[in-house]
Amino acid sequence: MFSRFKKPDGTEAKPVTAAGPRPAAPVASHVAAPVAAPKPALAVRPVAAPPSAEAVAADKEKKRKDRLMELKVELHKKLLESLNLAALEHATEANLKAEIADIASEALTEMSVALNKEDRATLNQELYDEVMGLGPLEPLLKDESVSDILVNGPHRIFVERGGKLTLTDITFKDERHLLRIIDKIVSAVGRRVDESNPYCDARLADGSRFNCMVPPVAVDGSLVSIRKFKKEKLGISDLVRFGAFTEEMAAYLQAAVSCRLNVIVSGGTGSGKTTTLNALSSFIDNTERVLTIEDTAELQLQQVHVGRMESRPANVEGKGAVTQRDCLRNALRMRPDRIIVGETRGEEVIDMLQAMNTGHDGSMTTIHANSARDGISRLENMVAMAGIEMPLKAVRSQIASAVNLIVQASRLQDGSRRMVSITEITGMEGEVISMQEIFRFERLGVEPNGKIIGRFNATGVRSHYSDRFRQWGYDLPASIYEPIV
Ligand SMILES: Nc1ncnc2c1ncn2[C@@H]1O[C@H](COP(=O)(O)OP(=O)(O)OP(=O)(O)O)[C@@H](O)[C@H]1O
Ligand SMILES: [Mg+2]
Repeated sequence: MFSRFKKPDGTEAKPVTAAGPRPAAPVASHVAAPVAAPKPALAVRPVAAPPSAEAVAADKEKKRKDRLMELKVELHKKLLESLNLAALEHATEANLKAEIADIASEALTEMSVALNKEDRATLNQELYDEVMGLGPLEPLLKDESVSDILVNGPHRIFVERGGKLTLTDITFKDERHLLRIIDKIVSAVGRRVDESNPYCDARLADGSRFNCMVPPVAVDGSLVSIRKFKKEKLGISDLVRFGAFTEEMAAYLQAAVSCRLNVIVSGGTGSGKTTTLNALSSFIDNTERVLTIEDTAELQLQQVHVGRMESRPANVEGKGAVTQRDCLRNALRMRPDRIIVGETRGEEVIDMLQAMNTGHDGSMTTIHANSARDGISRLENMVAMAGIEMPLKAVRSQIASAVNLIVQASRLQDGSRRMVSITEITGMEGEVISMQEIFRFERLGVEPNGKIIGRFNATGVRSHYSDRFRQWGYDLPASIYEPIV
């Protein structure tokens, strides 16, 4: 019987281990192959596993992408040489795509490169995105399920979907490619980023909020954050449906906004402050004149009578800045019924508090804070940092009489965004601002898949503004203040 452990002449071959000597090379030419190493039961040599089918496919896909990327760079250069850039503005999308496909096809033939139909279509689309749009970011901007795009250098692009961050397989070719796209965005709004001016805020053509920071301040390559603009803003009923708050809380908030309480939405980054503010604004009566002030215009009010203002940073010569405070001061002379400031983060706090205290009831803003109490401290700090020399007690009483309600938004670990607390400010007790929580989100546990289990509950405290609600025709049933036990 044939045995592969046997030499052809019948003598036993010595088993060879990893550490042992290699088998002697066959002397006679008629010996076809060197003796194969035996495979004893306890082989010492770690045998490298053959690459899995997925790994092979992934490697193939990566090579295909790299090749397409190289081709894209090459063709992009050729396109810029051949396309009549001045005519681009007037060309329709279909015409332009056809033109690009023609030029690319010619160039590919010249380069003797054959591509299958699918790769050719991908390449043409990417070339179109490079010339007319924001290159690799374009498919993400078009993807409705993506709410944020976060670029950490050219090779790592993350997206947020449903409150969760994931790494995509989309990349820029290199830092230069990324910088070219950044430059395209910022130059469209008349700004420039470079070593001496390494960061910039801008608004994309579709309304999305954009921020970038370039090297050397950004250490591992340019950083870009884009908060996608949603045409269809989430309304109160959407937020109730998504479990951001309950119908009872919505009824309470409707009463609060309609009765012109001054409301602050507090929360961390991306916790849903602007979305909540926008949804709350839907309770404002259509007859009122509302002025909105933002650093980047995101709010979309549904009322007829809305004046929108956007602050402006200084230009490259350091001139022409218009701050939120400038807008706010001017707004006070524009006969507003209500003023909405997108986010209060600096010296405009003084004018905001004054506006809230002096006849512009029903004004609203957001602040970056982790709880209602923290929100108050933030306001105090902002007043102090604005250089107002006022005793703390006076600052506090100013805040206590200006702000009626703090709504706390939060993004929980499972990515869900919830209104975790609604707190009323009821006045001052000595030196301390007194507050009462009306509703809160109670966490009860976590499901095995990480989803947070919890419920909204009333605290049992009746609203300080109940009489006002009733006088204005919002007779909320006492049951909404009753806690579930
Ligand atoms: N309750 C919600 N359910 C689902 N998505 C939400 C909810 N609230 C907000 N979002 C989405 O989360 C993203 C961030 O929301 P938003 O811009 O309101 O946050 P923010 O707190 O204002 O952020 P920033 O601090 O960056 O200004 C948006 O894409 C928004 O559509
Ligand atoms: Mg916001």
